Amino acid sequence: MTSAPARRTVVATAKALLAAHKGLLAMDESTKTCNKRFAALGIPQTSEARRAWRELIVTTPGLADSISGAILFDETIHQQLKDGRPFARALADADIIVGIKVDTGAQALAGHPGETVTEGLDQLGDRLVNYAALGARFAKWRGVIAIGDGLPTNASISANAHALARYAGLCQELGLVPIVEPEVLMTGDHTLLRCAEVTERVLHAVFEQLYVQGVQLEGLLLKPNMALPGLACAEQNTVDEVADATVMCLLRTVPAAVPGIAFLSGGQTGVQASNRLNAMNQRFKKRMPWALTFSFSRAIQYPALDIWHGDSGKAQQAQHALQHRAACNRAARGGEYSAAMEPTA
Ligand code: 13P
Repeated sequence: MTSAPARRTVVATAKALLAAHKGLLAMDESTKTCNKRFAALGIPQTSEARRAWRELIVTTPGLADSISGAILFDETIHQQLKDGRPFARALADADIIVGIKVDTGAQALAGHPGETVTEGLDQLGDRLVNYAALGARFAKWRGVIAIGDGLPTNASISANAHALARYAGLCQELGLVPIVEPEVLMTGDHTLLRCAEVTERVLHAVFEQLYVQGVQLEGLLLKPNMALPGLACAEQNTVDEVADATVMCLLRTVPAAVPGIAFLSGGQTGVQASNRLNAMNQRFKKRMPWALTFSFSRAIQYPALDIWHGDSGKAQQAQHALQHRAACNRAARGGEYSAAMEPTA
């Protein structure tokens, strides 16, 4: 049972993460994922290149105007900026709350080809204590659900929901806000309707498990996918259709006690993600009991990464692009984003 002081801490941190129409920045790509993105752009896949890219991100002027919290990867929370400050210190100095990815990745689920279960519960309590000592105040765990022929199975949904709830309970007991991220992937040719059905099924299972494990809903944030057609689906829906399907799905499954929902971007472009988040907030502002915001990685980082390309001479221009996407998403959280905010408009 989580103590009263720990409960108060997580509720206050969750509230701070949602304050002032801000959102979150995910910069917690595993070394493997970060290297894959660097390789595609011809950037060296070294610890120093990853450090330099992340230093560029956290030193972006004005980032804290739109970003309340940033999620780090284990490697980064142990690294320093050129001026010697640890990353967690630099974020705190910038008034950005420090988060940390604590799962150890999705592994093949035995007996269920094409499906995974996310691991990392072993010694999780000790790791959370260490991360809190390094400055982390919230954590992230991502379960991955694939749509396909006969997929997802109940086995994959229940294994991932169970792990998410176990992780969330442990975080709260130690005073860290859990970001609960069940991601239904965009890979495939499924329709928007199918994604919405699967997402609804997954979220029901996740909230059932959070209840079983006694997780306090007021002290967590949900990080779901939007309801989207698969990347290879012939019919790509309108912004409003995506907004309607996504919010319907959330209204049916996410209790009003949850303070906020912060979407992952999942492979959408920066502009698509801003547009869709904006439409949800514009169309449903009065009906939604929770804050609806963002916790994007690719939809914020990609335009800037593409400019930077590992060239320190491009750092300022890249920071400008990063700040711009963060500001667009903050506007979208308030339903005040428009195409006129984009430079090409
Ligand atoms: P994307 O926004 O690139 O989907 O990343 C969000 C995230 O944190 C995935 O775990």
